Amino acid sequence: MKEIRSDIYLGDCLEILSDFPENTFDLIITSPPYADSRSSTYGGIKPDKYVEWFLLRSQQMLRVLKPDGTFVLNIKEKAVNGERHTYVIELILEMRKQGWLWTEEFIWHKKNCFPGKWPNRFRDAWERCLQFNKEKKFNMYQEAVMVPMGDWAKTRLKRLSVTDKIRDNSKVGSGFGKNVSNWLNRDKAYPTNVLRLATECNNRKHSAVFPEALPEWFIKLFTKEYDLVLDPFVGSGTTCHVAQQMRRNSVGIDTLREFYDLAKQNVTQVQFEIFEEWAK
Ligand SMILES: C[S@@+](CC[C@H](N)C(=O)[O-])C[C@H]1O[C@@H](n2cnc3c(N)ncnc32)[C@H](O)[C@@H]1O
Repeated sequence: MKEIRSDIYLGDCLEILSDFPENTFDLIITSPPYADSRSSTYGGIKPDKYVEWFLLRSQQMLRVLKPDGTFVLNIKEKAVNGERHTYVIELILEMRKQGWLWTEEFIWHKKNCFPGKWPNRFRDAWERCLQFNKEKKFNMYQEAVMVPMGDWAKTRLKRLSVTDKIRDNSKVGSGFGKNVSNWLNRDKAYPTNVLRLATECNNRKHSAVFPEALPEWFIKLFTKEYDLVLDPFVGSGTTCHVAQQMRRNSVGIDTLREFYDLAKQNVTQVQFEIFEEWAK
């Protein structure tokens, strides 16, 4: 069996990535600081300076991503002075000018989010996962993320109309067409772009971890075994830990020693688990 590598680096991803050759990574998946939302734990960037700060780093990401690779950016705008700040929207527009294609937007719906409110808004229960690509044709393994058909099929497929049995093209010109009868006698369907995943309550010694299921889903969709995954803001190492379990190579970067040490610990632990598996 080929060896799986997980390399964790300490430093600013801007500098660390500049040492990597172009067209290296198959997938970049990351959750950077959401402006200065967690300034007490790992610093942050003022919302008005965020786009400028991020673009320097996304320029490097654009260089190191393979032409058929994908970049998934998990981010959410914070509210400032009673309004949503526009840095995410501005960032999307500026990244397009930088050369990225904004291919898709997935919504991570935090299905176990507890209720709550502020005087003028309700609790955030979703975040964006923005998909960017370098080229229109990129690697995507859609069959790898198929889901059970679900209950809709039992009633919807019982009686089919005439248009259900032919390809019925979208009436709004989206290019999307469907033939409902194609789903007869199937056990699995394609998912939508809404991911209903629970947040993880045990924070694994970092205040902003994403659930393992999040990188896992995108790693399945955009990579195959032995591909190379990058998380330039790796925090506790979730992405690299999951990549390793899925037999993908990975690189993780964090600017704080505390998280660099934690991420290293997390990947070493998996190496140990994999070793134990082999020893059986
Ligand atoms: C939202 S957290 C990532 C959490 C991670 N997804 C996890 O599951 O643990 C963002 C991380 O980016 C790190 N960071 C901030 N600026 C950075 C930079 N310029 N280069 C690399 N890492 C940075 C922070 O120390 C923090 O750990």
